[in-house]
Amino acid sequence: MRTALITGTNRGIGLEFVRQYVKDGWRVFAACRNPATAEALNHLAAHYPDQITVHPLDVANHQQIEQLSQALSTQTIDLLINNAGVYPPEHGDTFGKRIMPHGTMPLRSIPWHR
Ligand SMILES: NC(=O)c1ccc[n+]([C@@H]2O[C@H](COP(=O)([O-])OP(=O)(O)OC[C@H]3O[C@@H](n4cnc5c(N)ncnc54)[C@H](OP(=O)(O)O)[C@@H]3O)[C@@H](O)[C@H]2O)c1
Repeated sequence: MRTALITGTNRGIGLEFVRQYVKDGWRVFAACRNPATAEALNHLAAHYPDQITVHPLDVANHQQIEQLSQALSTQTIDLLINNAGVYPPEHGDTFGKRIMPHGTMPLRSIPWHR
């Protein structure tokens, strides 16, 4: 079974990515900031208990990145969708500063990237 790690999965595009990959038969490690309040994601996970596991991850939190890395250290991950992020109205430096950590930190969760 092919496996994806997707960040920011409690709502929006991330949640839809989970829904679509699961429908296509993938196993999904679904990361979000607050699993306890991720109602739609938890509802989906309850319907696909063999395919979805939900993991806490704020992509700007180094400790949580390390914890997820440990939790998935024995897993093979075929695909990372690093969806978590924001698209603020202002661009320039602010946008770059936000996008860069969001774009690189979750990569450390993949054992082969180390
Ligand atoms: N929709 C568009 O037209 C569009 C266009 C260009 C790029 N994008 C990008 O596509 C991605 C998803 O867009 P969307 O429309 O689905 O946005 P959204 O509805 O605002 O959802 C953003 C998701 O990212 C999560 N998130 C934000 N900061 C996070 C962090 N530090 N750690 C973990 N999760 C975090 C949010 O979690 P919380 O619920 O906890 O806040 C939420 O799940 C974003 O990266 C956005 O920049 C979207």
